Amino acid sequence: MKKFRIAIISDSHLIKNSTFLGIDTYSSFKAVVDNLVKNINKYELVLFLGDMVQDQKNESFDFLNEQLCRIKIKKLLIRGNHDIKKILPIKDFVEYNPPFSFENWIFIPIESYKKGAIYGEISSDKIDKIKKILNKKPQSFGILYLHHNLFETFSPWLDVHITRNFIQIRKELSKITNLKLIISGHIHQYTKNIIGDKVFLSTPSTSAQFKYSSEEFTLDTINPGYLDLQLNEDGTHKVQVLRILGNFGKPEKNPKTY
Ligand SMILES: [Fe+2]
Repeated sequence: MKKFRIAIISDSHLIKNSTFLGIDTYSSFKAVVDNLVKNINKYELVLFLGDMVQDQKNESFDFLNEQLCRIKIKKLLIRGNHDIKKILPIKDFVEYNPPFSFENWIFIPIESYKKGAIYGEISSDKIDKIKKILNKKPQSFGILYLHHNLFETFSPWLDVHITRNFIQIRKELSKITNLKLIISGHIHQYTKNIIGDKVFLSTPSTSAQFKYSSEEFTLDTINPGYLDLQLNEDGTHKVQVLRILGNFGKPEKNPKTY
């Protein structure tokens, strides 16, 4: 059976000469890219699910571009709530990624970014477009990628920033026959949720990790990481969470906000 692998990274929150919630985001991001570059022959594509630069400094965009330039395969990037510049100075970024087909899989973005908001929002016309694209190719399998999560984390401080209309969106997506996977970032943790034959994954951050199901804002001490996703010809997949070894700082004990 034919199969291929992709890598999914998210939430680098780059800050120059400072830390993000105790983490040196430049060194953790570089370590993730080092690992990807070392293993690049395994992958066909890299998805980057947003919240790329936290401090909005030119130096951080330069650093990001330098690092992305080292990844010499196709990259698809999407805007997160921290990617607030009207025109993002990121070489690999385009505002609307067209659907991308590889083997019998189609990668389609969902823009969940809402200007001025931390939470996400998805209009129903975007879902209609996705339906149309996938209906036209019944022999192919769909994989959607977006920044904001569609499932709660049961951490109230984080769930206020979920995609506003997540229940309705999930319902609509679950009706699309050949849709298989929906992958998001934003919540800085790996999660897996299932509706019927659709699998919803979230990606760990390349910087600070957030704790699932915690009353107060809590950081996880687990290392930064990314997803390694194998997509098979028959529509099945295999996912692995890869954690990066190294010391990138100490996650703050009583973080205030992010
Ligand atoms: Fe985010």
